Amino acid sequence: MSTKYIKLAPSILSADFSRLGEQVAEVAEAGSDYIHVDVMDGHFVPNITIGVPIVASLHSCTKLPLDVHLMIEHPENYVKQFAEAGADIITVHIEIDRHMHRLVRAIKDAGAKAGIALNPATPLSSLEEILPFLDLVLIMTVDPGFGGQAFIPDMVDKIARLRSMIDSRRLMAELEVDGGITVETAPKVVKAGADVLVAGAAIFSNRQKPAEAIQQIRKAFELAR
Ligand code: DX5
Ligand code: ZN
Repeated sequence: MSTKYIKLAPSILSADFSRLGEQVAEVAEAGSDYIHVDVMDGHFVPNITIGVPIVASLHSCTKLPLDVHLMIEHPENYVKQFAEAGADIITVHIEIDRHMHRLVRAIKDAGAKAGIALNPATPLSSLEEILPFLDLVLIMTVDPGFGGQAFIPDMVDKIARLRSMIDSRRLMAELEVDGGITVETAPKVVKAGADVLVAGAAIFSNRQKPAEAIQQIRKAFELAR
């Protein structure tokens, strides 16, 4: 039985933006580890969300690390701005840039931890050479662009294979999973070896308070292992 601590990263994409500070305080109080910030540009993904000023505001209202997920083209032009605004982890998509090594170095030079995200159809083999340089790998379990989409079940096996890649090479990268995480899917991805779970719609819904949702997700995966 594993006793590894699993981190939770609420995605503010589904939060009530008119009370963002309040909602972040609530999930922080309920035991969150990161605040996941989804930045979308309407080009890499078919949706536009938030940018640097919101990261700066969040930085001034929470002590939790800001886990900034860039779903944008030309991330190299924005890395420094996000880091200066207070991003602690900056994750970029491997599908975007042919020069990942340079981009990862730019993120670290800007003072942030570096993550790489993979879309569901992107093979793990694309990580082979860059993996030792990463602080985090983000496995997308939906195609990025929107909150509240259904988890793609085949991704459980991909998570397990990445867990083996990281462990067999004794690497440090955290394995983060993003998309469709609920009380039903959280136990599956934890069993497969995830370290960090992102959850948006499951936490910020009208059905229950974010704190209750967090407790239920934690309980679901703790019971299952
Ligand atoms: C999807 C985003 C996710 C999203 C997760 O493109 O990267 O972070 O907010 O939301 P849920 O948990 O609702 O799938
Ligand atoms: Zn995300």
